[in-house]
Amino acid sequence: MAKEVTKNEYVPFLSEIKEVIKHTDIEYTFRMTYEGDVKPGQFFEVSIPKYGEAPISVSGIKDGLIDLTIRRVGKVTNEVFEHYEGDKLFLRGPYGNGFDVEEYKDKELVVVAGGTGVSPVRGVIQYFADHDNQRKDMTIITGFKSDKDILFKKDFEYWRQKMNVILTLDAGIETKDHKIGLVTQYIPDLKLADVEKAVAIVVGPPAMMRFSVKALLERGFKEENIWISQERKMCCGIGKCGHCRIGDKYVCLDGPVFNYTQGKNLVD
Ligand SMILES: Cc1cc2nc3c(=O)[nH]c(=O)nc-3n(C[C@H](O)[C@H](O)[C@H](O)COP(=O)(O)OP(=O)(O)OC[C@H]3O[C@@H](n4cnc5c(N)ncnc54)[C@H](O)[C@@H]3O)c2cc1C
Ligand code: FES
Repeated sequence: MAKEVTKNEYVPFLSEIKEVIKHTDIEYTFRMTYEGDVKPGQFFEVSIPKYGEAPISVSGIKDGLIDLTIRRVGKVTNEVFEHYEGDKLFLRGPYGNGFDVEEYKDKELVVVAGGTGVSPVRGVIQYFADHDNQRKDMTIITGFKSDKDILFKKDFEYWRQKMNVILTLDAGIETKDHKIGLVTQYIPDLKLADVEKAVAIVVGPPAMMRFSVKALLERGFKEENIWISQERKMCCGIGKCGHCRIGDKYVCLDGPVFNYTQGKNLVD
């Protein structure tokens, strides 16, 4: 009888960098080769031998390619920024549940995202920009620190043609393209035909998520129609090490995308 070989889930594969898109001095999108099923909001563990691994969300999916939008913050991500088009990086994944566009079809949709929080949800925005017949009205409220910190500037030009876009900066001078202030201040005035059926997705730093969800609930959104994506410190990414566990939930397996009815205890 043939001996059964157990697949080692920790073994990464090599993926080639096809393009590097520079958004800011410390945030680049690495367009990488990947053949297989993947959803927006899922993540890959990017690894560099001797440096370690970092979980990074999928910010775009197209024709055998995935986008990983990475902020340079430390050991692994600094080293990733030393790589260029044609180089290869090790990846494991995709992991986590990701966003399921089926949940949002034929609904009024609001996306609230801050900073690199736009990355995991970019695929959902792009999907409903391309398929506007599969949804009702859509509004995105995105916040960045300053003009220099805006990610996906080119996408915003397209999204503006397809949906209501509110882009706000923490500081600076208001222009026709952006407002000044926090994302939360635009939630009370959201124009919605039926708030009880409208769906909201919230992704960003913990304080932004907490106050955005509070404002959405006050605006009349139902808890079960709010979706959040959580970033927790992770290690294995596959439910074995327990690093990401909160109560009975493993963020790497059960998340990082949660319905707020389940995810409310996970918001910091
Ligand atoms: C599910 C998930 C998805 C993520 N998606 C992205 C993404 O799309 N793009 C991106 O740039 N980053 C993303 N992150 C965060 C990213 O994984 C960390 O910034 C990265 O692991 C840092 O690794 P490093 O070795 O470069 O930094 P380190 O040298 O390990 O740390 C540098 C600094 O970053 C902090 N840090 C480390 N890990 C995290 C974390 N998970 N969350 C917040 N702060 C952290 C450390 O406390 C330290 O202050 C994601 C994290 C998770 C859990
Ligand atoms: S990261 Fe190891 S269990 Fe989730």
